[in-house]
Amino acid sequence: MGQVSLRGIRKRFGTVDIIRGVDLDVQDGELMVFVGPSGCGKSTMLRMIAGLEGIDEGDLLIDKQRANDLRPADRGAAMVFQSYALYPHMTVAENMGFALRMAGLGRAQRDEQVRRAAEVLRITELLGRLPKELSGGQRQRVAIGRAIVRKPKVFLFDEPLSNLDAALRVDMRIELTRLHKALGTTMIYVTHDQVEAMTMGDRIAVFHQGRIEQLGAPLDLYDAPATEFVAGFLGAPRINLIDRPGDGASPAHRALWARLGAGAPAGTRRIGLRAEHLGLAAPGQGIDATVVLSEHLGDASIVHLRLDGLDVRLHAKVGAAAGRLAAGDIVGMLPKPEQALAFDEAGRRLPSDQFATRNQT
Ligand SMILES: Nc1ncnc2c1ncn2[C@@H]1O[C@H](COP(=O)(O)OP(=O)(O)OP(=O)(O)O)[C@@H](O)[C@H]1O
Ligand SMILES: [Mg+2]
Repeated sequence: MGQVSLRGIRKRFGTVDIIRGVDLDVQDGELMVFVGPSGCGKSTMLRMIAGLEGIDEGDLLIDKQRANDLRPADRGAAMVFQSYALYPHMTVAENMGFALRMAGLGRAQRDEQVRRAAEVLRITELLGRLPKELSGGQRQRVAIGRAIVRKPKVFLFDEPLSNLDAALRVDMRIELTRLHKALGTTMIYVTHDQVEAMTMGDRIAVFHQGRIEQLGAPLDLYDAPATEFVAGFLGAPRINLIDRPGDGASPAHRALWARLGAGAPAGTRRIGLRAEHLGLAAPGQGIDATVVLSEHLGDASIVHLRLDGLDVRLHAKVGAAAGRLAAGDIVGMLPKPEQALAFDEAGRRLPSDQFATRNQT
């Protein structure tokens, strides 16, 4: 078992509220991702679960037992950090078995647990090496191995991949997901990388200023964000946010709003439209905009656009063939209003069911 529940958790450092009431149930065997911008309290929340940081208010339950006052070693949680800090003078096997030795396990038992963890992590051939003889990715595997041998109820990962280069991150991301399936152990995984969050999480908790702003399955959050903040945080490039035109708005801005916002619910202050929902065509079709930059990704292009009278750049994600555009080109924008999201003054998404159908007619 490895069920973690947070009930009204609060934490302050000095006079500053850092965690401002977090409630969450992490199911046994689930891979829960905490995501959010720098400083929103992800690591602090994780450290409170691990027992490295005290809890000011609220209850932490591990397998339904109150764990607030348990020592870190008695919580059944094993943490893996961004900096893996292996003991440099110990071999991989010794590093992995260290915690077991401290716990008083015998040689044979230690060796057996280390051997099994090494197999799962595919590092058996590295067991005799020293940390300095390993690549970054291999070191991170050893750090994970140290956590696995303890057979925790829950793994706590704090940005374990952020020291690795881009290609290795992708490999390790897949590897960790595989590991999670193989072990079936509950994992709480902290990242500020929205791609990791989207691809790894069974569910994602989006943190914002010490609270969970939204909790849900990755695609549900992507398709139906509760707020502008969640819409902006998940997805690259960032979702386009277009203000309701004010008195001095340009004709182009008004034209775009007429296409997007015509069917928007009352109280719509801003419309969100993802880059893949902004189609491009020849000038004169749709609404004309100027290309500022086109990033060619190979299979697709991200086209940055300037619309007369709009402060923000718009982004369109289009197929590679349509993407042979250069700065200064004029294109016609064809936004898909049925995919638009409406947000109110406070940044909350307005129910879009009516919006979508009204927009389609
Ligand atoms: N020991 C501490 N004393 C005082 N303030 C702290 C302490 N630890 C963290 N903070 C503050 O609490 C806030 C949340 O920090 P935390 O490390 O949890 O953020 P994070 O979401 O993990 O950010 P990042 O993505 O940058 O790692 C920050 O403003 C930070 O400066
Ligand atoms: Mg952190």
